[in-house]
Amino acid sequence: MNKKTMAALAVLWLWGGAMSAAFGEGLVSERGNLALDEEAPAAEAKQYAKDGDVIPRDYVQQPPLIPHKTEGYIISTKSNKCLSCHSWANAKASLATKISQTHFEDRDKNVLANVSARRYFCTQCHVPQVNAPPLVENTFKPITAISGQ
Ligand code: HEC
Ligand code: HEC
Repeated sequence: MNKKTMAALAVLWLWGGAMSAAFGEGLVSERGNLALDEEAPAAEAKQYAKDGDVIPRDYVQQPPLIPHKTEGYIISTKSNKCLSCHSWANAKASLATKISQTHFEDRDKNVLANVSARRYFCTQCHVPQVNAPPLVENTFKPITAISGQ
C-alpha cells in the first residue's frame, strides 16, 4: 500500500466516523436493528393497485405512472404485451391511451414508422404503483404548468 492509498483510506475512515456520529443516532436500517449475520424477517409483499384511474403527473416530461397491474405482461424481442393495448392499432379497442409520438423517435430524432427501440422496453420508464407509504415526508408540488397554481 503506497502513501496516497493510505491517506485516502484515513480520510475515508475519518469521514465515516463523522457521518455515523452525525446521522447514526436513532436511525434504524430497513432490515431492523440486526447484527450483520442475523437474517431479517421477510418483508411484507406489496400489493399492486388493480386497474385504477390515470395517476396525475407531477411534471410535463414525466413518463406517466402505470395505474394497473403488469404482472405477467411480457416484453421480449418477439412480443410486447403493453403494445397489445397501447399501440396505435389497438388503443381504441382496449380503451387505453396510445403511445405518444415521442415513442417513434430514435436517438437522432429521426421519426420512425414503428416504436423506436429506445422506447420498446416500456417498464424502463413506466412503473406500476404499490401500496407503500412514503419512507420520508415529501412536500413536492407539481409545477404550475400542470397544477395551474
Ligand atoms: C389489457 C390492456 C392493457 C395492457 C396489456 C397494458 N395496459 Fe396500460 N393501460 C390500459 C388502460 C385501459 C389504461 C387506462 C386508460 C389510459 O390509458 O389512460 C392504461 C393506462 C396506462 C398508463 C397511464 C397512461 C396515462 O396517460 O396516465 C401507462 C403509462 C400504461 N398503461 C403503461 C402500460 C405498460 C408499460 C404496459 C405493459 C407492461 C401496459 N400498460 C399494459 C390498458 C392496458
Ligand atoms: C425512455 C423512456 C420511455 C419508454 C421506454 C417508454 N415511454 Fe411511454 N412515455 C415516456 C414519457 C417521457 C412520456 C410522457 C411524454 C411523452 O409523451 O413523451 C410517455 C408517455 C406515454 C403514454 C401517454 C401518452 C399520452 O399521449 O399521454 C403512454 C400510454 C405510454 N407512454 C406508454 C408506453 C408504452 C406502452 C411503452 C413501451 C412500448 C413506453 N411508453 C415506453 C417515456 C417512455
